[in-house]
Amino acid sequence: MNLQSLRDQFLLDLAQCTHSKDIEHVKVSYLGKKGHVSALMADLRHASSQERPLLGQQINDLKQEITQKLEARYEQLASAELNIRLEQEWIDVSLPGTARATGREHVIVKTLHEAIEILRNMGFSVQYGPDIETEYYNFEALNFPKDHPARDMQDTFYLQPNILLRTHTSNTQVRVMESTTPPLRIIAPGKCFRSEDVSRRSHVSFHQIEGLYVDKHVTFADLFSTLEEFFGKLFQSDLKMRFRPSYFPFVEPGVEVDVSCMMCQGHGCSICKKSGWLEVAGAGMVHPEVLKYGGIDSEQYSGYAWGFGLERIAMLRYGVPDIRLFMENRLSFLEQF
Ligand code: DAH
Repeated sequence: MNLQSLRDQFLLDLAQCTHSKDIEHVKVSYLGKKGHVSALMADLRHASSQERPLLGQQINDLKQEITQKLEARYEQLASAELNIRLEQEWIDVSLPGTARATGREHVIVKTLHEAIEILRNMGFSVQYGPDIETEYYNFEALNFPKDHPARDMQDTFYLQPNILLRTHTSNTQVRVMESTTPPLRIIAPGKCFRSEDVSRRSHVSFHQIEGLYVDKHVTFADLFSTLEEFFGKLFQSDLKMRFRPSYFPFVEPGVEVDVSCMMCQGHGCSICKKSGWLEVAGAGMVHPEVLKYGGIDSEQYSGYAWGFGLERIAMLRYGVPDIRLFMENRLSFLEQF
């Protein structure tokens, strides 16, 4: 092939390149070791010595022209391709993302953890009693008479004769007394079960935190001040507290614990039913019989105990009107906390 027709052929080939990758093929076929330009160079041998310098010069010029044209075309194609890619791969960073729903503590667990934290800082350690319990620890060792109505099948889930689902966390009291020499200062959180009609205010399954303190010279005043401090911190409010006499077989005297309504500061509202007070716990001085069951000398030691329901506390704190909401696992409810 002569110089002119090689150049024409090259221009044609170049014009056919539509992609930057095509340039590489053309480059190899013209400028490669076995390419057309090298072949022309090799042919120089056959030229006469007069023709050779000029011809050599012309071949070199062509080689340069081809190199430049290939480079220029490559740049052109590559930048067009890049633009297309940028156009296609454009991301709208302002579009809303796909949010992942993250889990969180259930409101009862959250309340439990907060209560535990406060009580730990007040010197109580945490102990856990079993959910499945013997009649002995749930009733007998707590001084419940044999014919007490709470022992009745109607109130208690019996799994077998003498084996039941604990009806309160008080079951942990004598277990702890048996294994610890006073002073002891514990709380026992956990699930409780009662065979009750489910309603806005009661459920078959709920949670309590028991408190138990046994030492020398423990008095009613200790119980009062401890609960007052605890509930004040839990409700984050400067509340008043009062005891009303009540009966629980395992304490003497026994009381119901009221706190001033944190919704209306005791003035009276729909939450406290206009009374200004909310019942939050049962408590009392540990009955000498119970200390005896626990192997503790009631002449030397005295103690106090309390128990309260976590659902009730959470209902008051967050204004939840129905205890069943805690069990239903409806996300729209749970996500509020
Ligand atoms: N166990 C009682 C209940 O479930 C609550 C209670 C009352 C616990 C008085 C106590 C107490 O420790 O002293 O209703």
